[in-house]
Amino acid sequence: MNIAIDGPAGAGKSTIAKLAAKSLGYVYVDTGAMYRAIALYVINNDVDYEDETSLKNALQNINIEIKYVEGAQRVLLNGDDVSEKIRQEAVGNMASKVATKGPVREKLLQLQRDIAASTDVIMDGRDIGTFVLPNAECKIYLTASVQVRAKRRYDELLAKGEAPCLEQIEKDIELRDYQDMNREIAPLKQAEDAIYIDSSDMTIEEVVDKICSYGR
Ligand code: CDP
Repeated sequence: MNIAIDGPAGAGKSTIAKLAAKSLGYVYVDTGAMYRAIALYVINNDVDYEDETSLKNALQNINIEIKYVEGAQRVLLNGDDVSEKIRQEAVGNMASKVATKGPVREKLLQLQRDIAASTDVIMDGRDIGTFVLPNAECKIYLTASVQVRAKRRYDELLAKGEAPCLEQIEKDIELRDYQDMNREIAPLKQAEDAIYIDSSDMTIEEVVDKICSYGR
C-alpha cells in the first residue's frame, strides 16, 4: 500500500504524513529532504546549477541515502547525516531551484520508487501522485492558504529559536509556489484521482484522521 501526499510549501505535509505513517505502521518518506540534500551540496560547493555540465558533474559526486533511526527518516549526503542542516530556509529555497532541473529529478526518481516498492509508504512531495507513484492506492493533495502556511512556518521557526519575518516568509512561499507549479518538469499539481484537502481551518488531528481513514 502506498499513499502519496502532494502539496505546496508549508501545507503541513511532513507533520501530517509522519503522524499518519505512525498510526498506520507505514514508513514515512520525505522526498523534499532529498532535494534539500542536493541543494545543500550545491550551496556548500558553490555549484553553478544553471550550467548543465557543472550540475551533472556535481550530481556524479553526490550520493544520497535514506535510513531510518528509531522510525525517523535520516538523510545522508555522501555519508554525512545532514537531516538537521537541510532544514534551513536558504536550503529549502535552493531546493526549489535545483528541483526544476531534469538531471536532479532523474537522480532521485529511482531512489524514491525503490523505497516505495520495498515497503508500505506514505511519501510526500510535489509530484508523487502525478509522476513518481502514479499507481499509489491513495493520493492526497494537501494545501492551505498562503497566509496560513506562512504563519505555520513562522511559528515553526520561532519555536526553533530563530527570529523570522512573517512578511518575508509569505513572499518566499509565494515564490516557491510559483516555481513549483510553473516549472516544465514535474510541476506541482493535483493528480486527477487525488483527494483534495484544504487544511486552512483544520487541526492536525483532523487531517491525520481523514488520511488514515483512507489508508485503512
Ligand atoms: O517542507 P517544504 O514544503 O518547505 O519543502 P520540501 O517538501 O522540503 O521541498 C523543498 C523543495 O523541493 C520544494 O519547494 C520543491 O521545489 C522540491 N521538491 C520537488 O520538486 N519534488 C518533490 N517530490 C519534493 C520536493
